[in-house]
Amino acid sequence: MSILKIAKMGHPILRKKSAEILDPRSDSVKYLVEDMIETLEDIQGLGLAAPQVHVSKRLVIFYSPNENPNHNNAPLNILINPKIEPLGTEMDYDWEGCLSVPGLRGLVPRYKKIRYSAFNEEGIFFDRIVDGLHSRVVQHECDHLDGILYVQRMDKLENLIFETEMKFYNNL
Ligand code: NI
Repeated sequence: MSILKIAKMGHPILRKKSAEILDPRSDSVKYLVEDMIETLEDIQGLGLAAPQVHVSKRLVIFYSPNENPNHNNAPLNILINPKIEPLGTEMDYDWEGCLSVPGLRGLVPRYKKIRYSAFNEEGIFFDRIVDGLHSRVVQHECDHLDGILYVQRMDKLENLIFETEMKFYNNL
């Protein structure tokens, strides 16, 4: 296992559409998942997509915040070749950050409710209906697989701020 280097905004790999994973149960996927978990733990993040560690494959991992607000005990989700379907047109705004855009926060609209499907690390296909923060994290991470960063989803760039100034925005 090893801690991987995070690609930062401006690196071309973050703008590429990632490739489907042909065999979710392959050793290469297993080792990549292990390294991504170790990297996410090291950097204390909520989620990580493979392109952020310079691997252009359709794989994301994240802790699902709705199920347990205590980050240390939140379940870890591994999504291989995920697909998202918005349920309804209702949007929510909330602040997001990204390990590839360090030091910044942005107010981003996302679909409130989605259905998503994926293969897990055992090659089992599943789908779920989620809303709230879980829905937001899935949309954020899966955007990375299509070369999209959260700043590209923002509708008001004046709401792109340094995280040190978040204290002025707590009431939004
Ligand atoms: Ni991100």
